[in-house]
Amino acid sequence: IPGAREARAICATRSNDPSMLLEILHDLQVRVGHIPGESVPILADCLNLSKAEVYGVVSFYHDFRTEPGAPITVRICQAEACRSMGAEALTERLLSRYGVSLSEISAAGVTFEPVYCLGNCALAPAAMVDGALIGRADGAAVDAAIAEAGR
Ligand code: FES
Repeated sequence: IPGAREARAICATRSNDPSMLLEILHDLQVRVGHIPGESVPILADCLNLSKAEVYGVVSFYHDFRTEPGAPITVRICQAEACRSMGAEALTERLLSRYGVSLSEISAAGVTFEPVYCLGNCALAPAAMVDGALIGRADGAAVDAAIAEAGR
């Protein structure tokens, strides 16, 4: 069953506490990429909630995705020219803001991957959001491109 093992493990790390349902759903989406329908009865069971209660929360918050769907992929160049222009700090800031590590999928369906030279060194630091190149990237430019890609 997709997500079953992860759902049980995540509930256990939160002491099967029903008041942690939002955090648990968030963790599950980060681990699995979405909230599989099959995981709902498992979450309900672990947290001693009804399936309807869990479904209600999943469908109320638009950040939770019930289908696997491709995430928005943000590639941030980590090669020399971009590093010298602060690529590392930019990456750290974005990861902490979206609450993920590299290659994890955020609650809003965004994933960050390192890349080594996007051929845009003159406009370092460079990033690419779903194929769209951004020069002199900063947090605001990346956020705007993510919002655009989400449309
Ligand atoms: Fe970053 Fe070339 S080093 S684009």
